[in-house]
Amino acid sequence: MFRATPARQLGRLAASAVRAAPRRAAVPALAASQPAVRAFSAAAAVRQAQPATDFDPHAQTAMDKQQPPAPGEDFNVVIVGAGNINVRSDEGPWNHSFRLEHKLGPRLKVVALIDPGKARADAALKVKRESFVLSAYKDTVVYPNFGEFVKNMKPEQRPRAIWVGSPPAFRGRESAGRDLEQTLIEAFPDVAIFIEKPVSTGPVDEAMNIAEKLKQSGNIVSVGYMLRYLKVVQKMKQILEENNLKVMATNARYIMAYEHTAKLDWWDKSQSCGPIVEQATHFCDLSRYFGGEVDLSTVMAHSLEHFEPAGQLSKVPVPEDTIPANERIPRITCATWKYESGAVGSLTHAVALHGFNYSTELDVYADGYSLRLVDPYNAPVLYLRRPGDDHEEVVRYQSDDPFFSEVANLIDNIEKGEGSAPILRWVLRSSLIPRLADTARSSYEDAVKSYALTWAIRDASEKSAKKAA
Ligand SMILES: NC(=O)c1ccc[n+]([C@@H]2O[C@H](COP(=O)([O-])OP(=O)(O)OC[C@H]3O[C@@H](n4cnc5c(N)ncnc54)[C@H](O)[C@@H]3O)[C@@H](O)[C@H]2O)c1
Repeated sequence: MFRATPARQLGRLAASAVRAAPRRAAVPALAASQPAVRAFSAAAAVRQAQPATDFDPHAQTAMDKQQPPAPGEDFNVVIVGAGNINVRSDEGPWNHSFRLEHKLGPRLKVVALIDPGKARADAALKVKRESFVLSAYKDTVVYPNFGEFVKNMKPEQRPRAIWVGSPPAFRGRESAGRDLEQTLIEAFPDVAIFIEKPVSTGPVDEAMNIAEKLKQSGNIVSVGYMLRYLKVVQKMKQILEENNLKVMATNARYIMAYEHTAKLDWWDKSQSCGPIVEQATHFCDLSRYFGGEVDLSTVMAHSLEHFEPAGQLSKVPVPEDTIPANERIPRITCATWKYESGAVGSLTHAVALHGFNYSTELDVYADGYSLRLVDPYNAPVLYLRRPGDDHEEVVRYQSDDPFFSEVANLIDNIEKGEGSAPILRWVLRSSLIPRLADTARSSYEDAVKSYALTWAIRDASEKSAKKAA
């Protein structure tokens, strides 16, 4: 989650100085391939190995800057989960359905909304049907699970995309009821899937097996690590790649404001897996995006636990004492690790601030360069120091909406052919194309590796933690 980094955030991205790089040629559109791209073709391999520097800093990513979507053939979508991320929330700028509506306009047809909470799904549909997007939802059927939809689906309801925002406890595993991906690929081996982070709450090995099955099946998959889609993040990639830099270290700080985090489950490791797996996952993913693969055997971590003198918090908004002592979350987690390149990574996660806004930063260091990404959730800024100048340059982009970019990119991949817009995976530099076997070939597999890092940190911190008296 990126719980409680409030909604005001992305709206406030209208930053002052826009220091954009010269316009670069857009990625050449590749010939449209069949929607069902079942094999990892050589062309797709080359596309995946394209450096991320092909991003266009002038591209408009805010919804209000888009051309109005044109009418055309229906585009069927199945939405899984009628909660915060898919429908809306006061806690953050989440709302995939709203962005789908703005990407597809009158073509969007949500053929099914899957949620065991029928009342919540019906309430969400009522709001939609009372608004100008009625045509997208007037025929939507609510089902308690995906299997029911498959059983009842008419041929004209066949989806072109499946949008998954159900809790991670019900996916990413191989056991019945938690194996959503298995059900999806059996029914629709050629349909694109969007899946929210984290990919699972279960064993990493099982999630990796799911990654393999998705790869075999050939579905296009995009995972909701939206910070990768921020323009400042793409600018950082561009600087590293254009200057042929090797990242020496990443240093992530995720200092959350806990006072208004009122979901009891979030404070309970047995329910939400704890703040590293559930929340700092975004920064573990970004760290990997810049640093590359992590040697998980090197992960070391320490935590400050709730029962230690420095771990007492004064504003916990839930009855934390109802949670078993060994399942209460740590207040601080500090971790270090080595990347396979030899670079060093570190993360500090803190449950420490009051109020609403989180304080988050990621430093990336390379020979002669410091790239400091500050406040990516609220008002992303890149502070850049490079050779020849001891001062930091400031890079900001106006009205950047990474959530819209990730939605738009997947739809473009479906409609214009895989690779026509970047689904941002961790990739080797293009000069290393022959080593493609080393790249994360799917966004899901890449996301499982981020999931694995978060568990390695949690496990290491628990191993070294003081035990309650
Ligand atoms: N990328 C981000 O910034 C971001 C932000 C918020 C949430 N998320 C992620 O989105 C996912 C959902 O989070 P949320 O905040 O929307 O949760 P939520 O609790 O608000 O909503 C989840 C919905 O899924 C439904 N559900 C439960 N089991 C289901 C099942 N088996 N099949 C279908 N639906 C089911 C619930 O009834 C509920 O309506 C989580 O993985 C979370 O980490 C990501």
